[in-house]
Amino acid sequence: MKSIIVMLGPPGAGKGTQAKVLAEKLALPHVSSGDLFRDNLKAQTELGKLAQSYMDRGELVPDDVTIAMVRDRLEKADTAQGAVLDGFPRTPPQASALDAMLAELGGEVKAVPYISVPSEVLVERLGGRWSCRAQGHVFHEKYNPPRVPGKCDFDGSELYQRDDDRLTTVERRIRVYVDQTAPLIDYYRERGLLMEIDGTKPIEQVSQQLLQAVA
Ligand code: AP5
Ligand code: MG
Repeated sequence: MKSIIVMLGPPGAGKGTQAKVLAEKLALPHVSSGDLFRDNLKAQTELGKLAQSYMDRGELVPDDVTIAMVRDRLEKADTAQGAVLDGFPRTPPQASALDAMLAELGGEVKAVPYISVPSEVLVERLGGRWSCRAQGHVFHEKYNPPRVPGKCDFDGSELYQRDDDRLTTVERRIRVYVDQTAPLIDYYRERGLLMEIDGTKPIEQVSQQLLQAVA
């Protein structure tokens, strides 16, 4: 039976940062749809090339390909007990597809932490973010600097700045979030699964709120 945690929140809220903490605590894999697309892009697969055109513009990749990619990931043996989903679902059709796929594969959404952060803060977070090439660990030049500049603390791989973290693309991503993803806040609230987390606090305090909410 899969126990699924869905991390909800705008771009830069800290979904990836906190999903890593939660995944380790709960001994579940961290499944990030954005990282899956970026892995495909790095490997130059057809899916990666298709996704790139949307990601570069800050738009969402179409639901059908996104749903198929996540389904494929949730069929892998390491997710038998569940997963911490980060960046999926991101539209109402993706949320319904997740419910349907879990009914079929055996599992359910257990909790939906919603990390809320105002837009002004998001822009600064994404502008200073450095991401790791190997496993998607994230740092911030001011709020969470790596021990050695340009190098991941966890796996030593190179840190880089994402192309979609440019200001114009960030603004577009925030608009897309408000239009297409924010409706999921009500979707999960109505189902009694939403847990609101104040994402403006320092990283460790956000982790504490989350662990208490999900425990
Ligand atoms: P994706 O990779 O999911 O990006 P996103 O949702 O825009 O979220 P981010 O990864 O930018 O932010 P985050 O919340 O993970 O924040 P982080 O922890 O890094 O998606 C990218 C693209 O892929 C999409 O635009 C779309 O094209 C496509 N895509 C992905 N999923 C899709 C789907 N389901 N459907 C369709 N298309 C999809 O933190 C940000 C920064 O802030 C870091 O530098 C971090 O160190 C810092 N920070 C974190 N927490 C704090 C804190 N509490 N205080 C201070 N700094 C903090
Ligand atoms: Mg992320």
